Amino acid sequence: MLHTSRRYTLEPSPERFVLQRSVGTTAELSPKQVLIRVAAASLNYRDWLVLHGVRDNRAGLVPLSDAAGTVVAVGSDVSRWQSGDRVSPSFFSAWHDGAFRPHHLASALGGGQTEGVLAEYIVADESAVVAVPEHLSLAEAATLPCAGVTAWHALFERGQLQAGETVLVQGTGGVAMLALQLATAHGAKVIVTSSSDDKLDRAKALGAWQTINYRRDENWDQAALALTDGQGVDHILELGGPQTYARSLNAVAHGGRIAQIGVLTGFDAAPHITPMQFKNASIHGICVGSVAHYARLNQFITQHQIKPRIDREFSFEDAPAAYQTLADAGHVGKLVIQLN
Ligand SMILES: NC(=O)c1ccc[n+]([C@@H]2O[C@H](COP(=O)([O-])OP(=O)(O)OC[C@H]3O[C@@H](n4cnc5c(N)ncnc54)[C@H](OP(=O)(O)O)[C@@H]3O)[C@@H](O)[C@H]2O)c1
Repeated sequence: MLHTSRRYTLEPSPERFVLQRSVGTTAELSPKQVLIRVAAASLNYRDWLVLHGVRDNRAGLVPLSDAAGTVVAVGSDVSRWQSGDRVSPSFFSAWHDGAFRPHHLASALGGGQTEGVLAEYIVADESAVVAVPEHLSLAEAATLPCAGVTAWHALFERGQLQAGETVLVQGTGGVAMLALQLATAHGAKVIVTSSSDDKLDRAKALGAWQTINYRRDENWDQAALALTDGQGVDHILELGGPQTYARSLNAVAHGGRIAQIGVLTGFDAAPHITPMQFKNASIHGICVGSVAHYARLNQFITQHQIKPRIDREFSFEDAPAAYQTLADAGHVGKLVIQLN
């Protein structure tokens, strides 16, 4: 049965896209697909980049990658799910487990070639969704597919984070605050950098071990070295990019790990990385994660009863305001759009 579905699409305007509200129709379910009624979606910095990109193949695409909702219909061969199940689609619909392969990239939801989730109803393969932890609301669960899985992949799957180790996250956005919550639950000591003392207070309330205001203290790498008795930080989530990288290289511990994740200061070429060899340190390139990563993240979140921090919720009609709030960068944690 086909469903009409309120949704947003990306429509071209000079030098960027604009969000356009419309009503579409869901596709007929194939035997292995499920129909999900979306309850909430969340925003990532990527979604602002997508809106301001000029790639032709995005015209008409439903944006956003992160959502949670309820299964309302299943295809004839679906065995894992039934109507009423609370689920969340994985960021890459084609990356289920194992190594990342080139063809997985195009399956990223809401970015280029694959429809996103800012719609009342979405269709997903049964193998590309995970169960929502019981203790989470659907809004909380909607914060996880990109930011949560990225933080999990960086710290636990690749980083092999150990209790007692130090972690540094840059800023107080979605990836940083979820990483703070996950690492703290595991017994790690997290340093948070931010442009704002007020935001740092909110990070402390989430468990930050130490904080550095990088506006007041531009030499935050020196501050991080001082906080770790000159040893350096075991795990740095590099979210800034070209303007923060040199300091991350300086602040990372011997034998430490930098997770290369973000582009908050742009896409310029990386800095001089030779110092990494004299520290026997590693750089891990991270691109969100697989369905298996997402399932293991949810196990950890359930075990530790972690509740992701939602800064603000918006109605479906106010989705453009949610995008602008993300760009204004006053949030701590995640911004959510409610679809009910
Ligand atoms: N590779 C991947 O798989 C992956 C996945 C998710 C996200 N990302 C990337 O990771 C970055 C963060 O994404 P997000 O969605 O978490 O962002 P977000 O929620 O929009 O958070 C952005 C925050 O970063 C902080 N910030 C801005 N400029 C900074 C700078 N120069 N140095 C340190 N902090 C800075 C600000 O917080 P303060 O005011 O507190 O400083 C800002 O509020 C983005 O570049 C995004 O594209 C990559």
